[in-house]
Amino acid sequence: MSTSAPGAPLLRAENLVKSYGGPPALDGVSLAVRSGEAVAVMGASGSGKTTLLHCLAGILLPDAGRVLLLRGGTAPVEVTALTDDERSALRRRDFGFVFQQGLLIPELTAGENVALALMLNGVARPDAEQAAAHALAALGLTGMEQRRIGELSGGQAQRVAIARAQVTGARILFADEPTGALDSHTSAEVMQHLLRSVQGSGRALVVVTHDPEVARWCGRVITLADGRIAHDTAGTPGTGPMDAAR
Ligand SMILES: Nc1ncnc2c1ncn2[C@@H]1O[C@H](COP(=O)(O)OP(=O)(O)O)[C@@H](O)[C@H]1O
Ligand SMILES: [Mg+2]
Repeated sequence: MSTSAPGAPLLRAENLVKSYGGPPALDGVSLAVRSGEAVAVMGASGSGKTTLLHCLAGILLPDAGRVLLLRGGTAPVEVTALTDDERSALRRRDFGFVFQQGLLIPELTAGENVALALMLNGVARPDAEQAAAHALAALGLTGMEQRRIGELSGGQAQRVAIARAQVTGARILFADEPTGALDSHTSAEVMQHLLRSVQGSGRALVVVTHDPEVARWCGRVITLADGRIAHDTAGTPGTGPMDAAR
């Protein structure tokens, strides 16, 4: 993993436009995400939050505009110009994902789910298992390695998902309503773990949320309306309760 100076842009979107046939879901969105930044994306249902996240992460190709991944020292990678296979490889290596549910394999244990992310990148099983145990421990899940996902609480499963998202050394974590199915206490816990995984690591987090409480913990809030950025605080980190607790 290459390093970047704190605050250096990691990802840049330029004038993204995306339509599914009807009115545009994204209508000219430009933004840069910097290392160490936690960005909340808010907006009414249907405002384009998921579409934006998927375009930024190379899951979906926009109709127009481009997404650049900036790696310190090397030429930027134009994500939107890559083939499907190249984008898949990039997602496995450079990006981590935490969705509301569905990314973990229920038949596998917590340890296997996390190790699998590394094995897909060619890491040998024993090394992957060791790194997985480490990552799970960092999320307070020591002793849970052998549990199947179905045997965990919702909050524990989300912590496994976070471990899985960051164990590969991903530089950018994308989360879509990661606390949408959790009660407020568990939600706070999961967000704390997510934020901790970007603070001081040079990583960045882009989190789609409906929850003003979740957004409050992020240093920056972007609000979408009808596929456009209606507001971007681009505020400095250090304003939320998580920062106060540090
Ligand atoms: N796969 C799809 N096919 C058709 N329309 C879609 C699809 N995904 C999203 N849309 C439409 O695009 C707009 C933005 O959707 P989305 O990005 O999911 O918004 P949000 O995540 O903010 O709820 C909505 O009008 C939605 O109905
Ligand atoms: Mg959505």
